[in-house]
Amino acid sequence: MTTPYVLPVNTLVLVTGANGFIASHTVDQLLKKGFKVRGTVRAPKPWLNAFFDEKYGEGRFETVTVKNIGDVQELENAMQGVGGVIHMATDLTFSSDPHAVIPWVTDAVRKVLEAASRTKTAQRVVLTSSSRAAYMSSRGSTKGVRVDGSSWNEASIEAAWDPMTPEDAKPFAVYSASKTECEKAAWAWMRDNQPHFEFNTVLPDFNTGRILHPEIAGSTMGYVRTLLKGDPSVFDRLPPRKIPFSLSLSSLLSLCGNSLICRSPAEWYVDVEDTARLHVIALLSHDVKSRRLFAFAASKNWTDYVQTLRKLRPNKDLIPEPPANERHDEADIVLAHQSETLLKDFFGRQGWTPLDESLAAGIEGLD
Ligand SMILES: NC(=O)c1ccc[n+]([C@@H]2O[C@H](COP(=O)([O-])OP(=O)(O)OC[C@H]3O[C@@H](n4cnc5c(N)ncnc54)[C@H](OP(=O)(O)O)[C@@H]3O)[C@@H](O)[C@H]2O)c1
Repeated sequence: MTTPYVLPVNTLVLVTGANGFIASHTVDQLLKKGFKVRGTVRAPKPWLNAFFDEKYGEGRFETVTVKNIGDVQELENAMQGVGGVIHMATDLTFSSDPHAVIPWVTDAVRKVLEAASRTKTAQRVVLTSSSRAAYMSSRGSTKGVRVDGSSWNEASIEAAWDPMTPEDAKPFAVYSASKTECEKAAWAWMRDNQPHFEFNTVLPDFNTGRILHPEIAGSTMGYVRTLLKGDPSVFDRLPPRKIPFSLSLSSLLSLCGNSLICRSPAEWYVDVEDTARLHVIALLSHDVKSRRLFAFAASKNWTDYVQTLRKLRPNKDLIPEPPANERHDEADIVLAHQSETLLKDFFGRQGWTPLDESLAAGIEGLD
């Protein structure tokens, strides 16, 4: 008889960067299913231990300090006795220097895979990639664009290393390139080394939703929260308004769509708990092997966010006006439908968590 999951309940799973917005939810989902979790942190986070101890009882969650996520020996020590690894920590400095980000992030994923292969106990490794590794939501029309398992965001790599890329477009280009190169390096390592474990990746777009603890800044949901205080700067930051005009036409079209007047940002959202569930599926499902799971719920722009926030908090009159004439991204994210089916089959969900529910959870407690 096949067991429900690849790993038996109670197996120890390592999650890197466990105090992060998405990672803390992934830990939460694993603990809820009866797994034990060891989370890596860069410095002790007693509040995180206290939070999960209180919710699930002592002995279910522990932390280990890994100062250098690129050190194979530190990683191997952290992986002692684990049945699975979810690698989520990455460089989120949004530095404009590609040298400071891309090489180490790419090297670190190889070290994670190498350390997992040395353990012999890890049966699955999951990498948190990003929508940015496959695709850049566009400000122009994306009707007819198809994004699938073979899509890679080559334009971001070109833009990250191009000295002509404008300074304020650089951080986003460098981050996107780091995610693209990191995921590519991981698949290449798997192909070249043929380890004993299976490997999957998860590619989320913009995460919204509940922030589990006040010590967690909340990453992308933290940016959305700033709108309640009347701060419109996120409209320009994600994605940045300026585009690198030195790029080749194909790169330019990929960044900007076929409208050379780059207007409003277009993003896809995904609820953070759905992203966490997809990580659990990537770790535990017998059917999910060597797959890229796309976590794109629906195409939403800042106008949708503002309208939803105004409905949820009608008394907040500081919420800024969204950018004018925003488009919706119309690309066909082919594999997003498969991810939604996995959420239904594996977790009994109705489908993706709707944006209004996600934002309501994300601003809970903020009056
Ligand atoms: N949020 C989104 O919408 C989104 C979308 C697509 C992909 N992702 C990916 O999801 C993952 C988690 O992102 P998040 O949004 O949850 O961010 P987050 O809340 O800022 O968490 C980031 C985690 O990475 C750790 N970290 C940062 N720099 C590090 C370094 N140099 N070495 C080791 N650890 C480091 C942080 O540790 P400290 O607390 O010590 O800094 C933290 O634990 C990342 O891989 C990100 O690229 C996020």
